[in-house]
Amino acid sequence: MICLIGRVLISQSTCVAVEEPGYPQARRLFRSLGASVVGVPVDDEGLNVDAIPGNARLVYVTPSHQFPLGTAMSLQRRTALLAWAERRGAVVIEDDYDSEFRFEGRPLDPIQSLDRTGRVIYVGSFSKVLLPTLRLGFLVAPVSLQPALLAAKQLTDWHGEWATQAALARFIDQGLLARHIRRVAREYANRYAQIADSLEHRFGGWLRSIPAAAGLHVAADVRPGTSVDVARAVRRAEARGVRVGTLSDFYAGTPVRAGLVIGFGAIPTLRIDEGMRRLAASFGHRTNA
Ligand SMILES: Cc1ncc(COP(=O)(O)O)c(C=O)c1O
Repeated sequence: MICLIGRVLISQSTCVAVEEPGYPQARRLFRSLGASVVGVPVDDEGLNVDAIPGNARLVYVTPSHQFPLGTAMSLQRRTALLAWAERRGAVVIEDDYDSEFRFEGRPLDPIQSLDRTGRVIYVGSFSKVLLPTLRLGFLVAPVSLQPALLAAKQLTDWHGEWATQAALARFIDQGLLARHIRRVAREYANRYAQIADSLEHRFGGWLRSIPAAAGLHVAADVRPGTSVDVARAVRRAEARGVRVGTLSDFYAGTPVRAGLVIGFGAIPTLRIDEGMRRLAASFGHRTNA
């Protein structure tokens, strides 16, 4: 979906603003289409709108659950980003890739639902909610962009695969997707709570988890004043059968935060405790707790 949008809106040297840290695949994709990609810092409220370059034509954001930090963009920033896009005639890509799995509270309205002037394209995916191998997603685009997006889709592969889409449509119509989400959301909330608890108790001195309200991963950063070789610990963890990411993997420029990104979509809940024990041991932290 993001590729389709890029093909319509990016030409040689188009300036595209992305979150820093952010989703490396989106960055690479925009570059492959000839864009000049600029990282814009993210803080506890989301993208720093004041730091978007004035010549950006496209701004890519993950407001529900910032990738990878996990924070939600505040309403104030959502409004400011929309106002910025209106002033500059830019387009915002709102990538809402995994917010179906909420652990607490009501979600904020998508930026797309606040948009009155057709500046936002909302993108969703079934990769997290169902299966990444389905390769199905969707977008909600302003009327003005729809003909170009449809033409790009036709040029690419005429249309998506009908049989899978029809099966999914039936799955949704029969209420089975909603039921699936309710059931697995409880499981994911459980996994999140276990990992957050372990981060606090096993790693509390030197790592702190960054609170997330939704999603399938949790990020944790190194406490200021603590010296930890995260990359080495991650390599050791891998040798012990535990794969996690480092926050620095998600920076295009010099990383400003050191830490971990722990995905829990694929690990059985019962194996989390053992995984976190091995991870702690990889940091040289011996504990039987
Ligand atoms: C930030 C972000 N956006 C979107 C996606 C979904 O991508 P796709 O629908 O191509 O599987 C992912 C998957 O990992 C992601 O992390």
